[in-house]
Amino acid sequence: MQMRSPWPTGCWPVPNKRVLRWLALPWVLGMAAGLAWAQAGIFAGADLALGRQLMDQHRCEACHARHVGGDGTDVYNPAGRLKTAGLLRGMVEACNTQLNLGLFPEEVTAVAAVLNRDHYRFK
Ligand code: HEC
Repeated sequence: MQMRSPWPTGCWPVPNKRVLRWLALPWVLGMAAGLAWAQAGIFAGADLALGRQLMDQHRCEACHARHVGGDGTDVYNPAGRLKTAGLLRGMVEACNTQLNLGLFPEEVTAVAAVLNRDHYRFK
């Protein structure tokens, strides 16, 4: 006995352009949502303990304190220049380069994640 294929021709239906457009829509929306999530979640899974340790090791706060006084935490976003998690990470990356710290990308993320948790609180 031969099974009747549910499709009119061959194993795979060949979708026409109209169908393809409808298939593309959720894909585009999904990608956009994924990107937005990735933006907000760049610190997800960051190693906070490592970040804290690196900040002590590189004396971030000691130098900031010399510049702004107090415990140095006043340098963090006084003018609201950094507006997103991505910019914050970019700033840490810039300091990394500037100060020649030689941090690995995960380490930059870890440090930025600590700053975010303690000071910036970007979602
Ligand atoms: C040699 C001194 C020095 C060291 C060491 C240093 N910084 Fe800074 N940092 C500064 C100064 C000065 C500013 C303020 C720059 C400005 O306002 O333009 C600053 C600003 C920043 C800012 C931006 C604050 C804002 O919201 O605008 C971040 C973030 C930052 N530092 C992170 C770090 C981290 C993380 C480390 C350690 C890994 C570090 N810095 C080590 C001197 C230093």
